[in-house]
Amino acid sequence: MFDLQTMRDQLANHYDLAPNPDLAAAMSDTYDQMKRVVSPIDWATYAPYVAAIQRLKAERNAVILAHNYMTPEIYHGVADVVGDSLQLAIEAAKVEADVIVQCGVHFMAETSKILSPDKTVLMPDMEAGCSLAESITAEGISEMRAKYPGAPVVTYVNTTAEVKAASDICCTSSNAAQIVAALDSDTIIMTPDQYLAQNIAQQVPQKNIVWWEGSCIVHEQYTAKDLRDFREWNPDTRLIAHPECPPEVVNEADFSGSTSGIIKYVTDEKPEKALLITECSMASNIADALPEVDFVGPCNMCPYMKMITLEKILFSLHTMSEPVEVDPKVAEGARVAVQRMIDLSRKLGI
Ligand code: 13P
Ligand code: SF4
Repeated sequence: MFDLQTMRDQLANHYDLAPNPDLAAAMSDTYDQMKRVVSPIDWATYAPYVAAIQRLKAERNAVILAHNYMTPEIYHGVADVVGDSLQLAIEAAKVEADVIVQCGVHFMAETSKILSPDKTVLMPDMEAGCSLAESITAEGISEMRAKYPGAPVVTYVNTTAEVKAASDICCTSSNAAQIVAALDSDTIIMTPDQYLAQNIAQQVPQKNIVWWEGSCIVHEQYTAKDLRDFREWNPDTRLIAHPECPPEVVNEADFSGSTSGIIKYVTDEKPEKALLITECSMASNIADALPEVDFVGPCNMCPYMKMITLEKILFSLHTMSEPVEVDPKVAEGARVAVQRMIDLSRKLGI
């Protein structure tokens, strides 16, 4: 468990982290990227952390890889690379710095370590998990293989290294349909997200897709009725859903795609009003770049993603904690499944 008070005491001994309006003003270029969603008072609170993290990154030769669900002060303030799960994995394999600070959830840090085993990969909070990753073990993969002999196992990257190692190939929400379509088998096992699997089954009807019963606690909460009601009250709003939502929700939406797919769609289409049926930070992170779009309606927070804060990132770089380790044998097996996904995605032009 994270001892917040100890962390704060240690940081206070080394850094001046009091709110600082002058520093905030000096960093106005950074603030301009989030001023629609972060108040000036909050920015004065964040600025000392952002400045200290930027200094420490240079000292430690570190880069920050941040998922699209990070809060704006992380996404715009300290990240070197932002993206969806596929983009972060591809970037992790190319990192030249000595240290990667993974701002996202644990499976993302494991993926970075698997692809860059010689780098130090730091997780600002080891407790930042994922309901999908927790839903299945390597034994679950064996159970599915026993039930559907000979069928290849396509495993979502939202899983532990052990589960990846037990699978044939990984996928993310941005390449799942193409990967499934490209495999030379009529029956395909998809784990662990039942809803992603059901959405892909609709897109790739030529395959018999069977699935594990996992789900994302953020996206499973949405219902088709929510979307229908919203559309009735706000007929001119574009509804955009992540494919971890149940298929009846995705079917009510105007577009469905990975987190980066969603950003691209909104950036290209610039709808007057958009409801992003996904994690809350998605709309916040693109609000300033798209002033013509009104982001409306409810969103759901991922409690795991929200465990990552500026304070914990600073502490992580200060103490070089906590390094993510993956058993080399497990990492070797997991690397095969992840690398197959990256290679096939490249071949398919994704
Ligand atoms: P993306 O690969 O679309 O970024 O999704 C990752 C995730 O955890 C969404 O809940
Ligand atoms: Fe996992 Fe869902 Fe959070 Fe993504 S949003 S990290 S799938 S719990």
